[in-house]
Amino acid sequence: MRYDPLSSKFYSANRANFIRAMTPGGLAVFNSNDIYPVSADSTLPFEQHRDIFYLSGIDQEESILLLFPDAINPNHREILFVKETNDHIAVWEGAKLSQQEANSISGIKTVLWKDSFELLFDELAKEAKTLYFNTNEHYRARVETQTREDRFIEWAKKSFPDHPTEKSNFILQKLRSIKHKEEIEQIQKAIDITEKGFRRVLKHVKPGVWEYEIEAEFSHEFLKNRSKGFAYTPIIASGQNNNVLHYIQNNAQCRPGELILMDVGAEYGNYSSDMTRTVPVSGKFSPRQRSVYEAVLKVGEEATQLLVPGILIKEYHQEVGKIMTSALIDLGLLDHDTVTNQDPENPAYKKYFMHGTSHHLGLDTHDYGLIEEPLQPNMVLTVEPGIYIPEEGFGIRIEDDIMIHEKNGPLNLMKNIPKDPDEIEALMSEKS
Ligand code: GLY
Ligand code: MN
Ligand code: MN
Repeated sequence: MRYDPLSSKFYSANRANFIRAMTPGGLAVFNSNDIYPVSADSTLPFEQHRDIFYLSGIDQEESILLLFPDAINPNHREILFVKETNDHIAVWEGAKLSQQEANSISGIKTVLWKDSFELLFDELAKEAKTLYFNTNEHYRARVETQTREDRFIEWAKKSFPDHPTEKSNFILQKLRSIKHKEEIEQIQKAIDITEKGFRRVLKHVKPGVWEYEIEAEFSHEFLKNRSKGFAYTPIIASGQNNNVLHYIQNNAQCRPGELILMDVGAEYGNYSSDMTRTVPVSGKFSPRQRSVYEAVLKVGEEATQLLVPGILIKEYHQEVGKIMTSALIDLGLLDHDTVTNQDPENPAYKKYFMHGTSHHLGLDTHDYGLIEEPLQPNMVLTVEPGIYIPEEGFGIRIEDDIMIHEKNGPLNLMKNIPKDPDEIEALMSEKS
């Protein structure tokens, strides 16, 4: 395994927490992701579904987890189904997990071959009162393919049309949003790898460099440090591209006087980091770029201080909107009249800052977390204000990953990644 896995105790505890939230007689199933085809015989690299991973640590395709805490046979209360290695698989891909290995990763005693799933599910579903299905309820999800989970749900509903159903997702949204110490450590490892990448890149940014060359430097550093690579498609955007929020082409040449906005994070052990830094291509900010940069930095620092237990995301975003509004007035981008007469449903600051400030971060980059519930200790969120000014040819975003602490105030997990403008300029002057 490329990464150090978490302990089986962690996964056993996650299952115990999930089971505690189930209703009596409930049976839950969690499927792996498919390996997605490209065309001909090529496929995308496998990415495990984060829910089965969170509940078992099993990072292998075609695995299935079944939880049935009230099963009559104690051996059927937690069952993991994995793909059996045959001679062909062993020669072409290497051996899949043995039952013993799957048991030691997950802490699940009953590990069976995947081929026995349908028959056993059929038997246990007859014993169950409720079936828990793991539909994707993420507030940002727009899924156009039928996942392996969807196919299972369709099949199970046809086989057992009269069973009441529940959504596993509500339980998982709550559990996964509160990070355990071991998870914070994985996120921190991902962040530390991102830091190495950023420090490397600072030495390579200069007029004439191409955005994809910068992407390559990040990639090099990430892979060297036991990451699979980017946690999400990287945005390496120079000049006017700063203002394209989801710019991922990364194919322009960086010119003197421009800024380069890099929204990039390494993954580690399937945990994400999510960083944005914006630096001057020539190594020095112009006075105007520096004023806007310092304003974004200040909004980010004030927003971070608001991330305390009990605050609602909606209230938090409204507060950040006020902070941003006053920053934009100070920069001369908004005037008091415009703000006084603004539509409260579409405040004036949105002209320059049109996206949200924060999202949960964890196994998914836009992680689980019920957004209408108050924030709690040990949640990890990004703070990512930006000011985008196409008419001036640049835009700036700065993004850090913050852990909400019970009493010590918000903890910036990216505190070691340079963002002070003087420090950035000093580091950029030390060319390799
Ligand atoms: N990189 C994705 C985001 O910042 O939300
Ligand atoms: Mn980001
Ligand atoms: Mn983000």
